[in-house]
Amino acid sequence: MAGQSGAPRPNGKVTVTDASGKTSEYPILEGSMGPQVVDIRSLYRETGLFTFDPGFMATASCESKITYIDGDEGMLMHRGYSIEDLAEHGDYLEVCYLLLNGDLPTVEEKTKFEHSITMHTMVHEQLTHFFRGFRRDAHPMAIMVGVVGALSAFYHDSLDISDQHQRHVASIRLIAKMPTIAAMAYKYSMGQPFIYPRNNLNYVENFLHMIFAVPCEDYHVNPVLARAMSRIFILHADHEQNASTSTVRLAGSSGANPFACIAAGIACLWGPAHGGANEAVLSMLNEIGTADRIPEFLERAKDKDDPFRLMGFGHRVYKNYDPRAAVLRKSCHEVLDELGVKNEPLLKLAMELERIALEDPYFVERKLFPNVDFYSGIILRAMGFPTTMFTVLFALARTVGWVAHWNEMMEDPSQKIGRPRQLYTGEARRDYVPLHQRG
Ligand code: SDX
Repeated sequence: MAGQSGAPRPNGKVTVTDASGKTSEYPILEGSMGPQVVDIRSLYRETGLFTFDPGFMATASCESKITYIDGDEGMLMHRGYSIEDLAEHGDYLEVCYLLLNGDLPTVEEKTKFEHSITMHTMVHEQLTHFFRGFRRDAHPMAIMVGVVGALSAFYHDSLDISDQHQRHVASIRLIAKMPTIAAMAYKYSMGQPFIYPRNNLNYVENFLHMIFAVPCEDYHVNPVLARAMSRIFILHADHEQNASTSTVRLAGSSGANPFACIAAGIACLWGPAHGGANEAVLSMLNEIGTADRIPEFLERAKDKDDPFRLMGFGHRVYKNYDPRAAVLRKSCHEVLDELGVKNEPLLKLAMELERIALEDPYFVERKLFPNVDFYSGIILRAMGFPTTMFTVLFALARTVGWVAHWNEMMEDPSQKIGRPRQLYTGEARRDYVPLHQRG
């Protein structure tokens, strides 16, 4: 019955008739929620046909139990728990445990998991030498791709992907070390010394301490900012088969080590159509500048000859308000009030842009609502992060989602290397022409 977790269930079939009139049938499979699928795994063998779906608009690349999104309802759940409940009542490491293990932790399980993460927050001291090779003004995402990929050069005892224990150790290391590496990338760009992790701080407090502390004085983490940071990390933790998670799965399907797979995910997330949108939203708001220029930019967003898109709007899956944006919108006001910047001009501009856009037929007809990236940048800027760090924070938070999907794929007995095909429309076979005979 729909709603019950478990194996896919046959629920009807689809008949395909090819050009010769030959028919073949393919089972429809039903999951526990969401659209059913046509199982076409034998289609090519039986008909010689491929399916054609650029951008995978209607393709289920795998079976998964981790996250469910209903784009029409604006619903997001992790292992059955709504993102609203998790953001309101949980903390980030609890959500990490849930994504990795399938259930919320007991008190004992949570304490053990937190300790395990804490004990892996330091990085090999030689890793610091990598940073010196970068220019101080290098984009921190360039540093993240390089340094995270290089972790495989240090942690040889967690590279055997056939060993479940080694997969677990690599998973813990990645979740534990991302805040440390992200903070190092920030400190390097500031010309400040790296700040070591502190085991007496929780995951989010430790991150904020490594970012904002300096050796010259004590730094006390503002609990309101820590709560907002935890909530932002929760909202970015996982999002089913998005581009970067699909990248991690594809890289992992070849047997690449987990550090290389996560580095591939970071590279994909960097794009402005994906995780790079939060940085692009701030750039866009700064370019718009004042509310009277909003109509000009909305017209540009509609102009097919203009590459400009309204950053932070639209989503491949959500054709309703992104539930994460709703939570972030609320957090925005709380954080800015706490920081005494509630009249932040960019927030007022963002809210005016949202109001006008959501009344504009072009955006309404295409169901282009604000997504997770629309408000996150405003909060992060108010917290003191430079815009170049926004996508780094997204990558930090999304690491647990990437790792959870990587583990799910590695434990899937039907898993094989991902290798899409194509619709070829190039030249037919032709003979080579010697150079002096070419016209
Ligand atoms: C994330 O997949 C995930 O789950 C991603 C993510 C996650 O957590 O992992 O949710 C994180 O990546 C959020 C999205 C962040 N990106 C942006 O905010 C960039 C701006 N958004 C667009 O680039 C776009 O909306 C995408 C890339 C997000 C989605 O693109 P689609 O699904 O391929 O939609 P489309 O490009 O086919 O657009 C459909 C129509 C087109 O117009 P028509 O051809 O029908 O006339 O809507 C238009 C598009 O031109 N459109 C926009 C628009 N987004 C789509 N027009 C103006 N501004 C926009 N932002």
